[in-house]
Amino acid sequence: MNPYKFYISSENEGKVKEILKFLHEEIRPPFSANVLTLNSLDESQKNKYNPVENGISFLENARIKARALYSILREPVLADDSGLEVDALNGEPGVFSSRYEKTDELRIGRLLRELTDFQQQMRSARFISCLCFIDKFGNEIFFNGKVEGIIIDQPRGNHGFGYDPVFYYPPLNKTFGELTPDEKQNVSHRSHALKLFVHFLAKYIEFSA
Ligand code: IMP
Repeated sequence: MNPYKFYISSENEGKVKEILKFLHEEIRPPFSANVLTLNSLDESQKNKYNPVENGISFLENARIKARALYSILREPVLADDSGLEVDALNGEPGVFSSRYEKTDELRIGRLLRELTDFQQQMRSARFISCLCFIDKFGNEIFFNGKVEGIIIDQPRGNHGFGYDPVFYYPPLNKTFGELTPDEKQNVSHRSHALKLFVHFLAKYIEFSA
């Protein structure tokens, strides 16, 4: 069986790295996949790629990113929209997680300032991932994952990306920033969604062969 080729529609390096690692390890024989990133687009395709993430939900933004690439290539694509929901902030930064501030450091700084007056028991939060897959015919399907944690008041660890250093995960007594890539892969929101996607993809390939 030929490897099933599809593209990841994401400009976020940390995210792409995690998705590639997961897919590389979890798509197993008899299935195989050739997973490409935006790096394999030619210049004119790159210039056309411009997803405007103005949706009001993770699902809408995942769809916008997947459609942006599908409309250029007409080939199967996978996109992830993800973010951090903090209960004490009424779910913010949520879909605005990447636009909360300009850099990861500034985003974490703002988050900690907003939470200054909240004690640990009031700092519950979750990471959410919504994946949108579009097949070569333009059919779309979504997969969701989440993981619960607590926002601590000082960054810890330098693994991962984004809000990982302030997202404390009680079952492992570590922040996501302190987890190795393998440890994060076992428990993350993105992995939960990717697991569902890989399960779907195996069936999809089997029945389209
Ligand atoms: P997106 O590329 O618009 O989906 O942005 C997602 C943003 O949410 C990222 O830029 C991070 O700030 C945050 N985020 C999503 N997933 C993770 C994660 O696994 N760890 C840390 N931050 C994350």
